Amino acid sequence: MPHTEGLFISFEGIDGAGKSTHIEAVAQALEAQGRSVTRSREPGGTPLAETLRQLVLNDAMDALTESLLVFAARRDHIQRVIAPALAQDRVVLCDRFTDATFAYQGAGRGFDLGVLQTLEQWVQSSGDASQGVLQPHLTIWFDLPPSVAAARLARARVPDKFESQPLAFFEAVAGGYAARCEQDPERFARINADQSPEAVRKDVMAALAAKGFLSGAPGA
Ligand code: TMP
Repeated sequence: MPHTEGLFISFEGIDGAGKSTHIEAVAQALEAQGRSVTRSREPGGTPLAETLRQLVLNDAMDALTESLLVFAARRDHIQRVIAPALAQDRVVLCDRFTDATFAYQGAGRGFDLGVLQTLEQWVQSSGDASQGVLQPHLTIWFDLPPSVAAARLARARVPDKFESQPLAFFEAVAGGYAARCEQDPERFARINADQSPEAVRKDVMAALAAKGFLSGAPGA
């Protein structure tokens, strides 16, 4: 039986891992099976959160300020978009979520993981203790060697504040994702992103099918 209740799926990886095109393919595959899909991203997804995104991506600030801004954006995004969509049994596909904060602000910038955990609990709780802390049902992690990602980015676009960081920063961010994956292996599907787009897409669809979130031939 395909899953029919609200579903929250996040997509993660270092800059240049190539997740965006695959998110759209997942959206279309789910819609073809009759699901209503909400596409969103972080930081962003609401007018307030998109305003905060511009600050986080372009302005110099310390890691605590950065963490507070991404979590403030997340709070607004959860309240206005993610929670209402899940309550209507929609599928929410989110380009990045809290794992990015642990990877970028935590591992990349060296910010205190304990503080991030506290913020995660505050921001992702609804106030109703029985509901616990909101987490994605599945996180698709596009794992790519930072040197390969850097070569892709160099060809691609004008870099923002994070994309222009040195390779060592992305080595640390990749380590941050690996650590989050290790802590919650049930939630994570690690995808080898160092393959052709077709092979990556097939693996992504297979990960969704393995969870019962897509039925039929994966990659169709
Ligand atoms: P994007 O380019 O994939 O849309 O991501 C925006 C950038 O923001 C990306 O470089 C990662 C960074 N980021 C953080 O540093 N912390 C976060 O919590 C999130 C969601 C993104």
